[in-house]
Amino acid sequence: MTTSFLLNEQLVQSNSDPITPLLDVLRNELGMTGTKQGCDHEGECGACTVLLDGQPVRSCLTPLGRIAGRSVLTIEGLGTEGNLHPLQSTFIEVGAVQCGYCIPGMLLASKALLDREPHPGRAQILSALEGNLCRCTGYTRIVQAVELAAQRLQNPQAALAPASRPIGGSALRSDSLGKVTGKAEYAEDIKMPGALHMLVVRSPHHHALLRGLDASRAANMPGVKRIITWRDIPNLNGFPDYSLEEPVLTPVGDTLRMRGAPIALIVAENEEQAAAAREALEMDIEALPYTFDMDEALKPGAVHIAGDGNELSRYAVQRGDLEGALRASGHIVEATFETAFLEHTALERESLVGRIDEAGRITVLGGTHQPHNQQRYIAEMLGLPLDQVRVIVPPVGGSFGGKQDPWPFAAVGLATYLLRRAVRLIYSRRESFDASPKRHPYRVQCRIAATNDGKLTALSARIDCNTGGYDGAGRYIPNYAVTAMGGAYRWRAVDILARSVYTNGPKSGQYRGFGTAQSTFALECALDELIEKLGVDPVEFRLRNCIGQLEDVFLGYPLLDTLGYAQVLKAVKPHYQQFAKEAESFNKENPGGSVRRGVGLSGMWYRFGKAGSLKVEAHAELAGDGHFIFYCSAPDYGQGTNTVMSQMAAEALGVGRERVEIVNADTGRTPNSDIQGASRATFFVGGAVKEAAAVLVLSIFDVAAELLDVPIERLVLMADKVAIRDNEHSVPLSEVAREFDRIGKSRRVSGSFDLTPQLPEQRPEYLPLFITGAHLADVRVDMETGVVKVLRVVAAHDVGRAVNPLDAAGQIEGAVVMGLGAALQEEYLPGLTDGISQYQLPTSSAMPDIQTILVEVPSRLGPYGVKGLGEAALLPSTPAIINAVSRAIGSRLRTIPATPERVLNAIRGRRP
Ligand code: FES
Repeated sequence: MTTSFLLNEQLVQSNSDPITPLLDVLRNELGMTGTKQGCDHEGECGACTVLLDGQPVRSCLTPLGRIAGRSVLTIEGLGTEGNLHPLQSTFIEVGAVQCGYCIPGMLLASKALLDREPHPGRAQILSALEGNLCRCTGYTRIVQAVELAAQRLQNPQAALAPASRPIGGSALRSDSLGKVTGKAEYAEDIKMPGALHMLVVRSPHHHALLRGLDASRAANMPGVKRIITWRDIPNLNGFPDYSLEEPVLTPVGDTLRMRGAPIALIVAENEEQAAAAREALEMDIEALPYTFDMDEALKPGAVHIAGDGNELSRYAVQRGDLEGALRASGHIVEATFETAFLEHTALERESLVGRIDEAGRITVLGGTHQPHNQQRYIAEMLGLPLDQVRVIVPPVGGSFGGKQDPWPFAAVGLATYLLRRAVRLIYSRRESFDASPKRHPYRVQCRIAATNDGKLTALSARIDCNTGGYDGAGRYIPNYAVTAMGGAYRWRAVDILARSVYTNGPKSGQYRGFGTAQSTFALECALDELIEKLGVDPVEFRLRNCIGQLEDVFLGYPLLDTLGYAQVLKAVKPHYQQFAKEAESFNKENPGGSVRRGVGLSGMWYRFGKAGSLKVEAHAELAGDGHFIFYCSAPDYGQGTNTVMSQMAAEALGVGRERVEIVNADTGRTPNSDIQGASRATFFVGGAVKEAAAVLVLSIFDVAAELLDVPIERLVLMADKVAIRDNEHSVPLSEVAREFDRIGKSRRVSGSFDLTPQLPEQRPEYLPLFITGAHLADVRVDMETGVVKVLRVVAAHDVGRAVNPLDAAGQIEGAVVMGLGAALQEEYLPGLTDGISQYQLPTSSAMPDIQTILVEVPSRLGPYGVKGLGEAALLPSTPAIINAVSRAIGSRLRTIPATPERVLNAIRGRRP
């Protein structure tokens, strides 16, 4: 049966079954991949929004038969590169596009709103976008973009001019155009004719013994190309230096330690055939007792999961005389804080495609923070030389740490190697919830103390970190937990011990802020309790106790770089005073009312850059036509590294950004800049880019000096030429490039940024680089329902130097709303949370008014004075909100998320 409809004003016909979801018709039959899929055809995320006769619909829920004879508008029909719709322009201009995965759906939902309501108010915009999730932006700039587009549609104005300064100007993102027009090709969009489809066979149990596996029947099912088990792995069944014991595929005889643990890979001509074979695979699995609870797991005689008594690792710091410091204290707070498993829920699911490239290499394309490490894991698994494996990072639809997981890369690399054919793996959303790493839940039992005159004295903490069924880098977590626990404060004595504990929960791993946000929550909430006891000003208390420049920290070494904590606290101080005054008046005017207001403050410090190597390399090249190409590996998963690198390169060369091309994150073309996590890309990779630019300029001048017959000192680089200073003579860069080729000199040079010589000592846990920030939250609490509304947030961060202020503010806004989710609503419950519907992500209606303040205390070490930002911006958001709620209700909250039920319990604890 043929279904005809208008698609972007063109008549099209589809021969698919009328019950086929429109999304599948668009993407699979018509090859129009601008419309995105973020859930399992359940209408949960809004990424697939299109307009049907002008009304927004979820194309994943809309059967083809329903659109017969009707008109569909997709992102491809909204506007084109040369003729953008005003919404597409304003989304780019105000910085509303980060990873971009939600953007096609957002744009179409916004268009439908503006078509029916040309002058929407803020509430109407929030309501219209309520069903469209964005995990990156915090919605703030998306709403601003809609407001600006509404103005522009009524009263056409010129577009905002892009910044002229490479660094410090709010540069428009270089990749936004592809993202607002649906042209950007994420891994799932890459067309690979003849690609096989792979599904993973996973454990249905939280803890089980894999007793047997018989693939003979499944292997003979129609379309099945191969059933891959642990026996097919040529060399190493694991991930050295990432996980101590997580397998690529679980061998028969081993235990499956979590639901979703991998057993086998099924590769078939299409998904349906792979799914049928998965059903036919015969497995003998014995369910075992399990626990998600760390106390249970640590009890003598508990079910054995792994390690010594289910403990994975520990780390401790002890300094000073704790008992003496406690005795000298007039005020002590003793409290236990608990956090939950969190799921990244990047809008793009884990999507990868493997192929054999033109050089015969096993090539895997997919989103990751660490292409070169993924390359190494695959090569070690297959027993191949490194240069026989290639990893390429296409545009990535968000990560937040989740796509650091090496497992999907290994699975695709293995299948591509064995079948010598293109293979595609796309997690279902349910599978992503089951099998991707989560944020470690913490339980922090702490005591903090201060003297009567408000000086901090003692901190003791016992931190248990739930690593789940496998060590997904969880053995490093105790170190991160301890490092964050003391904050940027002066203590007379500390005694902090953290340990990582196996349970049968999901494997925990990297999540924005890796192990530090949970400690910051405990510290800053405990501090607020202490401050309340003392009855002093929260800003002044922190200012009084914060460490100064190059001072020794509680970890036993001095800071190596500048610290802007006092400056960020001073930046939020006037806002705190204003908010606190307003909340107090509100509460006074409504005594005994059902609504209370509260204001909370939190500081943070974050050791940035720890995840990767201290020495990072980048390359720079003079292209044949005279423009500049930079090669680095700083994957852009929405945080804007492509743009930042181009800004830093342009600044170093002294040319406009349009002269610079960035080639990023392809192990076949770019040098190893190591892992991009811990907010390190701008500092480390940016430093290497700057150095590479300097080397290239010298190399160009060497050649140009010969051509122009003048000393190098007289030369100056201009946009497309090398000129003689104070002279009209010059030589085009294209001619210089030809001269490089004629004399056989490479037009590509290398530069590196190496922090090693700056470090007075070398040990694994040591890196004295910290960034700081402070958030202030103003909340309203319904005392009868326990429902919290975050009204306003002020967020100040010391970024050293803001390379792209627009993007920096966008990173902070996204982090604020992610922290709001952790504070009030997000909780992954093992065995219960299967998908987005059960995981309460913040929607547009949760968006508070956010004011960002970029404080610039230049780094002594980073290029142009930059520090880091992206991960750290998350840390103070959650404790600021919890402190605000606690102050509003007059009772302390110590477990997050502070759901309405938990808030009510806290309220009732105060008024039995
Ligand atoms: Fe919205 Fe990434 S920009 S999900």
